[in-house]
Amino acid sequence: MEGLDKFVDLQKLAENQHSIAAAAAITITAYGIYKLLQQYGKIFSLKVGPGNMIVICDRKAVYELIDRKGSIYSDRPPMAVLYMNRLLEEPENFYTYSRLYANSVAAILAWGFRAKDTESFWFKEVNAMIEQKRAFHMRDYMDRTWGNARRLVEERRSRGDARSCMIDDKLDEYAKKGWPMSDVAFNNLFGELMEAGADTTANQILTLILALAMNPQIQVRARAELDAVCGTERAPLFSDFDKLPYINAIVKEGLRWRPTSDLGLPHTVTKGGRRICPGIHLAERSMWRIAAKLLWAFEFAEPLDPATGKVQHLDPDAYTSSNLVCPLPFKVRIKPRSETHVEIIKKEVAGAMEFLSQYD
Ligand code: HEM
Repeated sequence: MEGLDKFVDLQKLAENQHSIAAAAAITITAYGIYKLLQQYGKIFSLKVGPGNMIVICDRKAVYELIDRKGSIYSDRPPMAVLYMNRLLEEPENFYTYSRLYANSVAAILAWGFRAKDTESFWFKEVNAMIEQKRAFHMRDYMDRTWGNARRLVEERRSRGDARSCMIDDKLDEYAKKGWPMSDVAFNNLFGELMEAGADTTANQILTLILALAMNPQIQVRARAELDAVCGTERAPLFSDFDKLPYINAIVKEGLRWRPTSDLGLPHTVTKGGRRICPGIHLAERSMWRIAAKLLWAFEFAEPLDPATGKVQHLDPDAYTSSNLVCPLPFKVRIKPRSETHVEIIKKEVAGAMEFLSQYD
């Protein structure tokens, strides 16, 4: 893009765009962005080195893109019910199902598809690509994965199946107004949204489960609060938020104790310092709902040694050391609190499956 070199230290960015330390050296001045905004509008993409950088300069656009699609987190969030049901049926696979849950929510919001099971493109192929991307410089692999995702979207739209999701909204809008970016940049934008929303949420859920299993006294206090407000007859709803302050304290403590993005995201660091996560409201509400429902329905405990029957203590420091930190695979005992809790989950799951079939 002409004139860009005045604002961006292209050389440093091209050489180092995958290293956190170097990210701090990237200088894009606010004035530079402002000039580009005037010339190209509120959403534009920059070709920087081998990559594309998408710049969204409008608070409303970010809000519309991310926050308003939060209806999937409505008061009986179908994905959450399905996740609970999976924990009932296969508690030993909680690690994988926590990731599947988070991938599915992000894929529905961004791409209008759910990750139906662990064989789904939105779980298997997306995770394989993200794993590779962490280890190597995998620009082509990323372009290919999100290009395939885009093809799935185009195929369903060609069958007349437009859905309420971020990518369909923007496809409709750009068909009318014209395209502000290349196809590759567009596909990667929705891919990055999924990458930013899925792993982060899954990692924080796993941190909660680890911390709860290690701290049974916290569960006792949370259950007392939940039982006083909801009883056993119904699962907690977001409208109970004000009456359940301890649940919020647990979520916040998880984010403080083991923040998954402890250094921020390297590609988002500008001279002005760190920015706030645009998915913050969605993420906090989603985390609250999951924490409240998990604590209402289940008891979490450290695993037992199968040979001796003795408690095997979990290691609070067994975490990955990658850019987004996550507990290393661990074991916990998860059991439903009572038959009544099981019945309520089973009753809700039928309705959830019907709702979710529109995203198959
Ligand atoms: C528990 C869940 C989440 C955590 C802990 C989290 C945390 C963060 C952090 C720390 C950053 C980097 C801010 C910075 O230093 O520049 C970030 C950026 C970002 N997050 Fe989140 N996030 C979460 C969920 C989500 C969700 C659900 C979405 C959207 C669906 C989302 C979308 C984004 C995007 C697009 C960015 C890049 C922003 C930019 O480039 O300025 N996040 N997030």
